[in-house]
Amino acid sequence: MFKHVAIVGATGAVGREFLDLMAARKFPAERVTLLASARSAGQKITANGSTYTIAELGPASFEGCDLAFFSAGAAISREFAPLAAKAGAVVVDNSSAFRMDPDVPLVVPEVNPEAVHRHNGIIANPNCSTIIMNVAVWPLHRVNPVRRMVVSTYQSASGAGAAAMRELEQQSREVLEGKEPTMAVFPFQIAFNLFSHNTPIDETGYNTEEIKMVAETRKIFGEPGLAITATCIRVPVFRAHSEAVNLTFEWPIKPAEVRTILESAPGIRVVDQASPQHFPMPIEASGRNECLVGRIRQDISQPDGRGIDLFVSGDQLLKGAALNGIQIAELLLTTGKR
Ligand SMILES: NC(=O)c1ccc[n+]([C@@H]2O[C@H](COP(=O)([O-])OP(=O)(O)OC[C@H]3O[C@@H](n4cnc5c(N)ncnc54)[C@H](OP(=O)(O)O)[C@@H]3O)[C@@H](O)[C@H]2O)c1
Repeated sequence: MFKHVAIVGATGAVGREFLDLMAARKFPAERVTLLASARSAGQKITANGSTYTIAELGPASFEGCDLAFFSAGAAISREFAPLAAKAGAVVVDNSSAFRMDPDVPLVVPEVNPEAVHRHNGIIANPNCSTIIMNVAVWPLHRVNPVRRMVVSTYQSASGAGAAAMRELEQQSREVLEGKEPTMAVFPFQIAFNLFSHNTPIDETGYNTEEIKMVAETRKIFGEPGLAITATCIRVPVFRAHSEAVNLTFEWPIKPAEVRTILESAPGIRVVDQASPQHFPMPIEASGRNECLVGRIRQDISQPDGRGIDLFVSGDQLLKGAALNGIQIAELLLTTGKR
């Protein structure tokens, strides 16, 4: 049982999922404190029959806390997560602030649950697209090592936060009414359009989201040399990210074997019906804990039968963020290391 849990960024797209998940999973917490910026202080949130008042985040927010979920961006995590850890809380951080720190475990419970033991007060939740890909690829990699991954993402607006979701809604209405779409969050029109992921491009030509998928997967899999390339795209979908994943295995592998492995893998639901063409879709992945995997087929460009193509859809606010964080905290309870 946790005595006092803090949720930092509780009014955000990810933050709001925590309370509902805690109720749904009967998460053992005696007391919960919701924290956000001064803009939201005093605002009330009702969940599972209880009403909570948002408090302003400050250096003294973590007194008596033994667990703190952070989802308020990397700058806030850098400033406040060490304070929370110093006050005695285990921090589960959804931002990118500490993910590549060698002293901070980066955990997907279905992949590397043992890593939680190595924490020094902070545990990082991986990037949302990375988690969704890792949950689908890891069970295959354990049976037949993956030698190369090529991933193309179709990422929803809510991946950029609550304001981005509202922007998609507003722009959609404006375009349909023949008005000029209002642009505030995204650099380009998101309604009825798609564009390269809105993170900075580095000197290699990759954007930050793509680099995260490569570097974080290598850390989570414990495979620093794994060949991975990614193309990340933002699409006009409200919720749930989708990904086309092309894999090259060490040995030949058949789609039927892939299907069998994935059908018994944790956190996955196989949706792979050729007739009628029912495959993973963000609408069906939204609100679900499992990631949907389908379009399982042999990559015909690899004549030795070592290539497989997959399509994955996963709710990035749940498995890509809040759910993965809650599962990490549940692991801490079951393994006893707090
Ligand atoms: N969205 C996703 O799918 C996703 C997935 C994985 C990880 N993440 C990560 O999770 C974090 C939050 O993302 P989000 O999508 O939930 O963003 P969001 O909807 O924009 O929410 C941001 C939250 O941070 C709070 N906040 C902002 N500035 C603050 C400050 N100075 N002090 C205290 N609280 C502050 C906001 O509070 P106010 O309401 O008071 O402004 C709000 O609760 C980010 O690090 C993001 O990279 C997001």
